[in-house]
Amino acid sequence: MAEFEKANSVGEWFDQRLNTTSFWRVMMTEYWIPKNINFLWAMGALLATLFTLLLVSGIFLLMYYKPDVNMAFDSVNYTIMQEVAYGWLFRNIHGVGASVVFLVIYIHMFTGIYYGSYKKGREMIWISGMLLFVLFSAEGFSGYMLPWGQMSYWAAYVITEIFGGIPFIGDELVIWIRGNFYVSDSTLTRFFMLHVLLIPLVILGTIVFHFYTLRFPHVNNEEGEFFDYKEEAEKYKSGDKANAKVISFWPDFLSKDFMVISLFMIFFFYLVFYHNAFAMDPVNFDKADGLKTPAHIYPEWYFLWSYEVLRGFFFEIAGISGKDLGLIAFGFAQAIFFVLPWLDKSPMVKPANQRPLFKWWFWLMMADLFVLTIFGKLPPTGANAWVGFYASITFIVLFVSLPFITKLEAKKAGGN
Ligand code: HEM
Repeated sequence: MAEFEKANSVGEWFDQRLNTTSFWRVMMTEYWIPKNINFLWAMGALLATLFTLLLVSGIFLLMYYKPDVNMAFDSVNYTIMQEVAYGWLFRNIHGVGASVVFLVIYIHMFTGIYYGSYKKGREMIWISGMLLFVLFSAEGFSGYMLPWGQMSYWAAYVITEIFGGIPFIGDELVIWIRGNFYVSDSTLTRFFMLHVLLIPLVILGTIVFHFYTLRFPHVNNEEGEFFDYKEEAEKYKSGDKANAKVISFWPDFLSKDFMVISLFMIFFFYLVFYHNAFAMDPVNFDKADGLKTPAHIYPEWYFLWSYEVLRGFFFEIAGISGKDLGLIAFGFAQAIFFVLPWLDKSPMVKPANQRPLFKWWFWLMMADLFVLTIFGKLPPTGANAWVGFYASITFIVLFVSLPFITKLEAKKAGGN
């Protein structure tokens, strides 16, 4: 606990400075970051950059997009892609951006898990991050519907149908969400409103909150090491930069961030110009048709793992239907990451590779998510269905066993 009081002093110290000078001046002259961090700590700033790119390209798309079932498809595929000057560029930035933002979110999340950055004192950072994950998921899902292609329509149909499984209110809830008995014009219009107004506003507020929660315990570092920021900052200021455990926010830390962001942008614009097709499903170039179900319905790659957990239970167990079991498992998968700080019972803040039991748990969980993602895209028949079932069971067992594994780990460490 003593360590947190020391770390907390950064927040207090920050407040004292704020009494005498402006926020930006403190950030640029008196703000310190642990030195012992690697490029993975630039993912947060990269996410902020990608969100800005999505916002700006989205505003340009908004000038020509038509939220109407009779016009949406053509407004995207003809007007924006073929008629408007550089319309294709803004659409590709938006489409590729929406896909890679999830890649970076997952890297950011799993970095947090690997280094134990969600532990005591950092719970609110984790919770606000998870809120951002859910909000980005809702933003991605609502945006996917807007081009009104076949996959837009059927993904919206399947996902809204999931709410029908909620006891008592399910059927009414589905109609309320869709604004009709089936996915229709009213559904498109309300998802349009959510995508361009409400969710982005809430995301902005939540990003501010995420940044605010960061300043209390300060960011973690590669060794989970605590030190006295005041003392280390004094060392840095007196010129002993080599021995100080901190670097300045500006120019040291931000220049590292800019380098990572710049390298990523080379990769990003390479995708935008030369490989943009990966971010769009070929089926979605057919206009939505409520009477023609595509052979396989699947969501974008970043939802595949949870989609596979939903489909994984395909037979009755103990009198509960496969569909209900899938829904329960899906609900579990959505909620369980939120409570990670309380499932991990070991106080040890160390990278996973230095934790004797957690390291196995971490890599098994990664492998399982990988298998779920691959099989989420394949048709759920024959052996595929069984792999999906066992991978879903593994996911649940991993999270249920985490408190026991980490308790044992803490006990062992205490005994050494
Ligand atoms: C999508 C928008 C997000 C933005 C703009 C964002 C931004 C940031 C920034 C700038 C940092 C500090 C530097 C760094 O560690 O990268 C940070 C830290 C952190 N974020 Fe996020 N983040 C986002 C989403 C998430 C998500 C989805 C999670 C996971 C649930 C998360 C969990 C964390 C954690 C645990 C830290 C602390 C890392 C540490 O102490 O070392 N964030 N975030």
